[in-house]
Amino acid sequence: MEKKFKRTTVTSALPYANGPVHIGHLAGVYIPADIYVRYLRLKKEEVLFIGGSDEHGVPITIRAKKEGITPQDVVDRYHTLIKDSFKEFGISFDVYSRTTSKTHHDFASSFFKKLYEKGEFVEQTSEQYYDEETKSFLADRYITGECPHCHAQGAYGDQCEACGTSLSPTDLINPKSAVSGSKPVMRQTKHWYLPLDKHEAWLRKWILEEHKEWRPNVYGQCKSWLDMGLHPRAVSRDLSWGIPVPVEGAEGKVLYVWFDAPLGYISNTKELLPDTWEKWWKDKDTRLVHFIGKDNIVFHCIVFPAMLKAEGSYILPDNVPSNEFLNLEGDKISTSRNWAVWLHEYLADFPGKQDVLRYVLTANAPETKDNDFTWKDFQARNNNELVAVFGNFVNRSLVLTQKYFAGKVPACNELLEADKHLLEELASAKEKIEKSLNLFKFREAQKEAMILARIGNKYLADTEPWKVAKTDMERVATILNLSLQLVANLAIAFEPFLPFTSEKLREMLNMDGFDWNNLGDANLLVAGQQLQKPALLFEKIEDEQIEAQVQKLLDTKKKNQEENYRANDIRPTVEFTDFEKMDLRVGTVLDCQKVPKADKLLQFTIEDGLDKRTIVSGIAKYYQPEDLIGKQICFMANLAPRKLRGVVSEGMILSAENADGSLSVVTVDRAVKPGSEVK
Ligand code: 2FM
Ligand code: ZN
Repeated sequence: MEKKFKRTTVTSALPYANGPVHIGHLAGVYIPADIYVRYLRLKKEEVLFIGGSDEHGVPITIRAKKEGITPQDVVDRYHTLIKDSFKEFGISFDVYSRTTSKTHHDFASSFFKKLYEKGEFVEQTSEQYYDEETKSFLADRYITGECPHCHAQGAYGDQCEACGTSLSPTDLINPKSAVSGSKPVMRQTKHWYLPLDKHEAWLRKWILEEHKEWRPNVYGQCKSWLDMGLHPRAVSRDLSWGIPVPVEGAEGKVLYVWFDAPLGYISNTKELLPDTWEKWWKDKDTRLVHFIGKDNIVFHCIVFPAMLKAEGSYILPDNVPSNEFLNLEGDKISTSRNWAVWLHEYLADFPGKQDVLRYVLTANAPETKDNDFTWKDFQARNNNELVAVFGNFVNRSLVLTQKYFAGKVPACNELLEADKHLLEELASAKEKIEKSLNLFKFREAQKEAMILARIGNKYLADTEPWKVAKTDMERVATILNLSLQLVANLAIAFEPFLPFTSEKLREMLNMDGFDWNNLGDANLLVAGQQLQKPALLFEKIEDEQIEAQVQKLLDTKKKNQEENYRANDIRPTVEFTDFEKMDLRVGTVLDCQKVPKADKLLQFTIEDGLDKRTIVSGIAKYYQPEDLIGKQICFMANLAPRKLRGVVSEGMILSAENADGSLSVVTVDRAVKPGSEVK
């Protein structure tokens, strides 16, 4: 039996205040959370929506150091920017505070103290990297080096961004202090650990047996963590930025950011409701739901619940709807590479179009797998769905009412088959939309709401009131009455998804407010009621606007490539004997063809001095095959054969890669005999 709750506490991950927010943040966490909260509010349920900025952690101090300002300056700047962006996009937090607030410092500190006094931590001394120049321990991202897996340079002490592997600082090859650049030494340091191993048994039961309904990505990630076995996790760090560890002998140590950040949900509630916050966190009749991105799963499903359980008086999350990631034009969104659509920039380029982005991001929400945002899709969804379906139906209904009934809702008369069909569809929509919303399937829910608009559009196309007006105004009245009732229903159904549009509709229809429970009702508007003059809800987005956005991204890509090119480190030294292992030769191109169904590949037939050989090379974007025939090129002759698109490639053609990624085949300065060695 499903438990009935009295109220819902909804949290959304606290974004780091070390940069602005982008579409990935909106799509992954804040739009789904906002849709859910708005839906519950419309149902007149008791709900609280908590947000705020995560203002501790090493990335913030690194940014401060780079810019020569204090960490407080960094978080002040971004907290305001982030808060404003969320407000602009209608993310309807009840509170949006920050983890540098006094309330939060006091709360997190006393929470730690309580666990400390209850003996819920273990103290452990371990060896950690220490920077002798700056006289400080080097936590997580303060240490960089070569990744032991992919050998990329510049991997961090907690993760290699090139291959995504989680690391600990001691895994790095040739570690360097990110602060001074010096080679760190090992030193002993004491920290407090949350013994997750002691919590493993109840966590297993609670998640794996009692929460099978969690999304498969969340459940699966928890299961694999639990199956690997949990270990004690340090909840303090040697840093100066953060909340000081409130026990004796802990000078120079602060709470680990992942210990204090989730407590921010509670302290922000406390800041908003100093007298009644506890019922939102401790009452068994409260349902707690965390909206997060997939990189936060372990913290919200394992670490934070263990902290709450250790304290003893808190409820645990009932669900943790976590999304996968949103990519941008086929590439991972990245703050450091500036590969993102920043919300404040979107607003400057598309003023007043917040709902368009909300719509597209929900239609493409990465609910079950990573998804891609493309500007072309953004344009198509706006033009073909919002303008052509939703906007068109609403506009036609309102304009025809102005024309034939001076903007007053006409009376509904005798119902014909088409009308009855419309009413049936309307009556069944509520259940479908609700079912999806209750399961956190927001893209499906929005799709169902859009189906209602499609039905309306079709109804007008089928009934053709503009033609009927020549002969039967009573019939026109019925058609327009029902159309307007459907428009009023759309205003309710879309409020969680497109709040700005719904508000415009509410004003145009002169409705007092919305109640979700009225969804499906065909008597929302009273005959004779005066409507406002219709205004367009959506407008077409032209090709030029989209091209400008695509160009902006291409410029970013070019800039990144140029920077990479400059920063491209020479690889580690190899011995001459290793160099000698490569057999590099000159060959003459006898034939060159495109490989069918492979945009990038060309198939070469090469005279190699002994025989003919086939080599497949990924340079089709940069050459016409016929231009290469007769050329003398350099190739690696002893590379193990590989099959590419069904063709066995016997070697590799050497090309130079330019800063923009384009390739130029390596040729010889003067003609030589095919098969000549390149030394
Ligand atoms: O991943 C992040 O952006 C973290 N700042 C999320 C913190 S969520 C919560 F614990 F506050
Ligand atoms: Zn790596």
